[in-house]
Amino acid sequence: MILLTGASGFLGQHIYKTFSPVFPIIGLGHSGSNCDRRIDLTDLKALEALLNELKPDTIIHSAAIRDPDECVRRPETAKALHVDATKVMAEWCQKNGRRFVYISTDYVFNGKNPPYNEKAEPDPVNLYGETKLAGEKEAQKCPDHLIVRIALQYGTTDRPELSFIHKAIKTLSKGEKLELDNVQKRFPSLSADVAKAILELEKRRYVGIVHMSNPVGITRFQMFKTIAAAFGFDPDLVVDTGKPPQMSANRPADCTFDLTLYKSLGLPPFHSFEEGLAMIKDEVKASL
Ligand SMILES: NC(=O)c1ccc[n+]([C@@H]2O[C@H](COP(=O)([O-])OP(=O)(O)OC[C@H]3O[C@@H](n4cnc5c(N)ncnc54)[C@H](OP(=O)(O)O)[C@@H]3O)[C@@H](O)[C@H]2O)c1
Repeated sequence: MILLTGASGFLGQHIYKTFSPVFPIIGLGHSGSNCDRRIDLTDLKALEALLNELKPDTIIHSAAIRDPDECVRRPETAKALHVDATKVMAEWCQKNGRRFVYISTDYVFNGKNPPYNEKAEPDPVNLYGETKLAGEKEAQKCPDHLIVRIALQYGTTDRPELSFIHKAIKTLSKGEKLELDNVQKRFPSLSADVAKAILELEKRRYVGIVHMSNPVGITRFQMFKTIAAAFGFDPDLVVDTGKPPQMSANRPADCTFDLTLYKSLGLPPFHSFEEGLAMIKDEVKASL
């Protein structure tokens, strides 16, 4: 049985949907309703009690505060969720001979010397990356572990408030402009592709770190132009700010992954951003 944290989240929903025909799975949420059980993972006593009650064979820890600016606003919660809860779960798995899977991020790198393979030295530039990296170190203490580093997620969702595509379409449909940086490279990756690749790694019980993403990097400005074109809006509504991203937490400029390991494992290729948008277009429109 798999216990999935963050099952009510953007990626968690896709992992739950992809895994449930293959493995028995229990999905945990916190405030969201689309999950099997709710728990505050920062309540470490309640977490330990839940693990002793459910005794999962594998834990997939996807819950996080994934917005770096939100991590700046709530540093204690970010640390508790990314590091302390990870420690409790990884130690429980180690003690009970179970498997631990940790969803991590390309933001563990500083973005100055891409491409990054799995052996590259992490050097996060913000608290989000620092706490996610500290979580990786806890995860590695469990011998049977998998760490999956992923990039920016997009796809279908029943929680449009978690999706940058849904938010962009709402703005564009009002004829309002979107001003975005044309500097930082992102690697928009279809969450359904990510979930499929993780399932494949789980079937093999792969141990170690794996990088996975759409290989083509584009800036926010280019990304939102592509969204406007795909959904039939005027691409001129998307404007280049002419400046680097202006956000409270620093952002790494270019975290391109070296995907040699991913390819050598024969894992399914990622859809391009254009292909992915075409695949999700009707469902996204219906959920607005
Ligand atoms: N999304 C991206 O672009 C991206 C990029 C790189 C890496 N990642 C990584 O991918 C993983 C999944 O991210 P996501 O996009 O699915 O994030 P998300 O949509 O923001 O979902 C976060 C999840 O964490 C849960 N959560 C938050 N605080 C909690 C708490 N105190 N106790 C229990 N659960 C709590 C949320 O539950 P409720 O909603 O029910 O409160 C939700 O299920 C994360 O580990 C993130 O670091 C994401």
